[in-house]
Amino acid sequence: MTTTESFPLAFDTTPSAARRADAEREAILADPGFGKHFTDHMASIAWSFDRGWHDAVVKPYGPLQLDPAASVLHYAQEIFEGLKVYRWADGSIRAFRPEANAERLQRSARRLALPELSTADFLAAIERLVAIDADWVPTAPETSLYLRPFMIASEAFLGVRAAHGVDFHVIASPAGAYFPDGVKPLSIWLSQDFSRAGRGGMGAAKTGGNYAASLLPQAEAYEQGCQQVLFLDSEERTYVEELGGMNVFFVHRDGTVVTPALGTILEGITRSSVMRLAEERGHRVEERRFTVEEWREGVESGDIVEAFACGTAAVITPIGRLKARDFEIGAPDAEPGALTMSLRDELTGIQYGRLPDHHGWMRRLA
Ligand code: PLP
Ligand code: COI
Repeated sequence: MTTTESFPLAFDTTPSAARRADAEREAILADPGFGKHFTDHMASIAWSFDRGWHDAVVKPYGPLQLDPAASVLHYAQEIFEGLKVYRWADGSIRAFRPEANAERLQRSARRLALPELSTADFLAAIERLVAIDADWVPTAPETSLYLRPFMIASEAFLGVRAAHGVDFHVIASPAGAYFPDGVKPLSIWLSQDFSRAGRGGMGAAKTGGNYAASLLPQAEAYEQGCQQVLFLDSEERTYVEELGGMNVFFVHRDGTVVTPALGTILEGITRSSVMRLAEERGHRVEERRFTVEEWREGVESGDIVEAFACGTAAVITPIGRLKARDFEIGAPDAEPGALTMSLRDELTGIQYGRLPDHHGWMRRLA
């Protein structure tokens, strides 16, 4: 389904009459955590089968009104994105590769039979929201404003077909580190019983159902003293796919960097950025099938020297240990890898404006 509109939408703005006072906002920004606090406004655009995208607004943040028969509540026709906005030392506000999020939302929309939102309208929505809530972009080191664009099937209809009424919203949440312990090496739990995605499924789409499928194995991970769950391919239960909310990389002694091939995993924007940065340093980067056995043997022989997770929320975080039912790889107190930390420094350096942006990744919003 494509949209019929050919010009970027114009946004109507209704400023909030209940903006948080400066002192309250500053207290939140001093210790934002992750995903707990939200700014004063949100951006919304409506879509209908007959009118295409229309009614673009920036309005006070608040509850959605949804009919109890809205098909998202029954059939989970929903997609979302996650991207961060940074305050640079010169006071400007920049988003990291927002066009890539717009394009991934379009790919997710195709898979979930939702209407595609143009890149121009996606960017306009985040620009308008960030402009009105600019004071919510934190200034402390390693903090940012996390944007959560999402699209839901809002038509009230219980027949199982693609909805004829859809809403797109963007909300914003000041963010500190995703893992409260910061960049300490992660322990991850190998899910040997559950899969996240299968061939022909929705694994490559950023849709709530994939995360719903991850919650029970993620709860097991917590029980096992691990922070994240690792999923394997659903057919052979052999090949490493990704974590509940992050992609994974393995670094070999000879400098080769390996990451699982696309197909049933989310095509992470951090993943593609890391591949680019590693290649530019002269590392050979391989996207291919990678087994847990190869990981275990590689660590035992000294051939694999580092593993790390990456994603918007997690940035780049070292993996110290994989815990499975009958074996473990690595150790919880493993030292973070040198390449892991140096790629993290380079990526965050670009994001916070400490290093030049040779790739044109940082889009100025304000
Ligand atoms: N894989 C999953 C399942 C995710 O939820 C995320 C986070 O968005 C990623 C990978 C990494 O994607 P990105 O780097 O675009 O944030
Ligand atoms: C993100 O990194 O944006 C995600 O959606 C993953 C989730 C762990 C917050």
